[in-house]
Amino acid sequence: MKKGYKLTLLGTGLIGNFYTMTLHNMRSREQFHTVYSANPENAAAFAKRWGIPKSTGDMAEAINDPDTDAVVIGIPNHVHKEAVLMAAKAGKAILCTKPLGRTAAEAKEMLAAAESAAVFAGYLEDLVYTPKTLKSLTAVQNGALGKVLWVRSRETHPGPHSDWFWDIEKAGGGAIIDMGCHCIEIIRNFVGKNIRPMEVMCTADTLVHPIDAEDSAIGLIRFANRAIGQFEVSWTFRGGMDLRDEVAGTEGTIWMDHFLRTGFEMFTAVGQEGYVAEKAESDTGWLFPVGDEAHELGYNHMFLDMFQAMDAGKPPMETFYDGYVVNAVMDACYRSVESKKWEPVILDDWRGDDPKAEDQSYEHLIDGKYILIKTEKMPDGKTKTILKDKDSGQITQRIE
Ligand SMILES: NC(=O)c1ccc[n+]([C@@H]2O[C@H](COP(=O)([O-])OP(=O)(O)OC[C@H]3O[C@@H](n4cnc5c(N)ncnc54)[C@H](O)[C@@H]3O)[C@@H](O)[C@H]2O)c1
Repeated sequence: MKKGYKLTLLGTGLIGNFYTMTLHNMRSREQFHTVYSANPENAAAFAKRWGIPKSTGDMAEAINDPDTDAVVIGIPNHVHKEAVLMAAKAGKAILCTKPLGRTAAEAKEMLAAAESAAVFAGYLEDLVYTPKTLKSLTAVQNGALGKVLWVRSRETHPGPHSDWFWDIEKAGGGAIIDMGCHCIEIIRNFVGKNIRPMEVMCTADTLVHPIDAEDSAIGLIRFANRAIGQFEVSWTFRGGMDLRDEVAGTEGTIWMDHFLRTGFEMFTAVGQEGYVAEKAESDTGWLFPVGDEAHELGYNHMFLDMFQAMDAGKPPMETFYDGYVVNAVMDACYRSVESKKWEPVILDDWRGDDPKAEDQSYEHLIDGKYILIKTEKMPDGKTKTILKDKDSGQITQRIE
C-alpha cells in the first residue's frame, strides 16, 4: 500500500471543515499537513483543532510547503484561479472545489495551467460521488434505464452562510454559479459526459434577497443526443436543504432524495442545543437530520477517487476539464437569462463525441404493418395495444 499524501488546505470555512472532517475523522492515510486561512489566527485555531502540524496566513507559503504533495482549494470563487496558477507553478497536484471558475474563460486558464505544468488536477464535485448517485450511475451505465431522456437535478436552501457568496463580483453569480454547477455536473454524468451539451434556456430572478445576483433559477440543457437536463436552484427555499435528482430513461426511472426525507426524521420539543444538518432552519419540532453528512454528500468517495487516481497516475472521475464544461454551460445560462432565448453552449475545446444524427426509428413492427406505440393492462383485465399504421400514419387500438 502506498504511503498517504501530505496535503495543503486552503480555506478553513465550511468546505475546509467538511474536507478535514472527511479525512481526519476517518483517520485516512491522507492528512492535511499545512493549513492556510486569510486570517492567520483562524488558521492556527483550525490547525490546533484538527491536529494539523503547520498553519499560515500566507497562501504562497502554504502552497509552496516543500512537505506537501497536493493543494486542496477551499477558498472563495474569486481566488480559485490565483490558487490554481500558484499550485501549478509549484508543481503540486491540485484538487479544487466547485465551481472551478467564475466563467469558462477563467476555468480554461486554470485547465491550461494544470495541463502545461503536467500536474494532477481534480475537480471536487462531491455531489456526483454520493453513495446513491454512484450506485445510480452504475445502474444507468449498465443499461438499467435504457436511453437516458431527461435528468432533473434540484438544489435549494435558504441562502449561503458567508458574505462573499452574496457579492456578484466575488462569487461570479448567484444561485446558478453556487448550486447550478452541482446540478449541471450531475446531469452530465447521467446523460453521458461524452455527449455534448448544445444549448441552454434559463430563467432567473432575484425574488427575495436584496442582491445583484439571482437567488432563483430554472434551466434546461439540450444535449446532442436530444436528452434534456433540467436544473432548479434557489436561495429562497424554506425548510432546510433540498437535494433531489431524477433520471428518466426509455426503460426505467430513478428518484433520489439526498438530504431531506432520507428516511431519518426526528421530533424534539426541546432541541439538543447543537447542529442538526447543513442549512437546517430549526433545531426543534420535526427535524431531518443526516446520518453521516460527509458521506451522504459524497466527500468520502470523492477523495477516495482522487487519491486512487493520483496513485494510478490517471485522471479522476471529475477533472478540471469537467469543471470547464460546467462553467461553459453556466455562461450560456447567464446569456439566456438576458436574451430570454435558447443560447448555444460555447465550448471551443470539446473533447467528447461529435454530435451526430440520432437513430430516430421507432420501428417495433407488428405484422409488418403497424408500429407499436404502447400496451397497457386495463382494470377489466383486458390488454389494450395502441398501434400506428406504418403507411397511413393512422392510430388505432386493439383490445385483447
Ligand atoms: N459541496 C461543496 O463542494 C461545497 C460546499 C460549500 C462551499 N464550497 C466551495 O468552497 C469554497 C469556499 O466556500 P466556504 O463555504 O468554505 O466559504 P466560507 O466563507 O465558509 O470559508 C471561506 C474560507 O476562505 C477564506 N477566505 C475568504 N476570503 C478569502 C480571500 N480573499 N482569499 C483567500 N482566502 C479567503 C476564509 O478565511 C475562509 O477560511 C467556495 O468556492 C465554495 O463554492 C463547496
